[in-house]
Amino acid sequence: MFVFDPYSPAIDADPFPAYRRLRDEFPCFWSPEAGMWVLSRHADIVTALNDWQTYSSAKGNLMTELPNRAGATLGTTDPPRHDRLRGLIQHAFMKRNLETLAEPIRAIAAELAAELAGRDRFDYIGDFSSKFTVRVLFAVLGLPMGDEATVREKAVLMVQSDPVTRTKGPEHIAAYEWMQAYAARIIALRRAEPCGDLISLLSSAEIDGDRLEEREVLLTITTLIMAGVESLAGFLVMFALNLADHAEARRAVVADPALLADAIEESLRYNTSAQRFRRCLTRDVTLHGETMKAGDFVCLAYGAGNRDERQFPNPDVYDIGRKPRGHLGFGGSVHACLGTAIARMAVRIGMEELHRVVPDYARVETDLPWMPSSTFRSPTRLDLVRA
Ligand code: HEM
Repeated sequence: MFVFDPYSPAIDADPFPAYRRLRDEFPCFWSPEAGMWVLSRHADIVTALNDWQTYSSAKGNLMTELPNRAGATLGTTDPPRHDRLRGLIQHAFMKRNLETLAEPIRAIAAELAAELAGRDRFDYIGDFSSKFTVRVLFAVLGLPMGDEATVREKAVLMVQSDPVTRTKGPEHIAAYEWMQAYAARIIALRRAEPCGDLISLLSSAEIDGDRLEEREVLLTITTLIMAGVESLAGFLVMFALNLADHAEARRAVVADPALLADAIEESLRYNTSAQRFRRCLTRDVTLHGETMKAGDFVCLAYGAGNRDERQFPNPDVYDIGRKPRGHLGFGGSVHACLGTAIARMAVRIGMEELHRVVPDYARVETDLPWMPSSTFRSPTRLDLVRA
């Protein structure tokens, strides 16, 4: 009997054989382990994303949702409230605003890369990507420096789930509570002394004359930190892993850094860190002979849609020349990732600087330790040696 259990360590380590069976044999699959339907074909996921009236986010978009988040922030509201909330903060994430951050981001990357000079072996996550991500996000969100290490640690815990109980464990909930208390502290600081940054703006924002509820402000800032820190950090690891495993691609991007942009898009398709998100049906839907009922949860398996040969020829090949139009690495439609421009820029600049100091590398371990998460996928440790 076919089982698809997004809580199992086997799926954390390698979901791709199961994704193939889902797409080919069970394109609309009820997973009792997940307690939801799973859509895995690219076309079905795109249809669901565009039909947000039917595939609602208002009950939460994380596969294992955090308490009290549903209905109160980006990723957990539907239009029109979602669009207004998103509109409030979108301008802060526009490319032209972010370009002013290119040089500071380069300086952060260069400083961290310089610490790797002369080392034959290093912990890519601990020594580079994790520190880089959190410092970049602090710059983007205007957070006061000093708490970076704890914020990173808590953001990682928040997106994890317990593989045995299939829920958030006490350590995950405690991390979430810590993050909300941290966000509350920053909001209080900005209210006392507004400085025109994103958090000052959100703290006093109104939608259609209604001031944002305290809970919305708190959860939006908490979500931005969680979404930013974990997604960016996880993707930076997956990208380095792909380059470590594909020597030809690695040599090409080192020789010509302009190719990094295409390599990033292909990594977002090939094995992105943001694998699966959740929606809830507002009406009955019949698909591939199965009837999903109003109120049922549906998993949109972006990672599976990205390997669908109906959309991408030879999908299991990592090809940086592919230019994968329509990949689902950033989701799509009304909930498409808000951080795409900053993520693309930060990853490109981060890797350019790393490659100046460490141009050629390979991974040490074949078997990597994978994070226990039903939504995200990335290793918790990646040791690299100079090749
Ligand atoms: C390479 C890094 C990243 C990846 C792969 C990624 C991926 C995604 C994906 C797949 C979604 C859609 C979720 C859904 O369908 O429910 C999403 C949404 C979101 N992302 Fe990202 N993300 C990245 C970086 C960032 C960064 C740096 C930020 C913020 C600083 C961010 C903020 C958000 C927010 C706020 C949403 C919710 C948008 C909405 O519902 O309107 N992301 N991201």
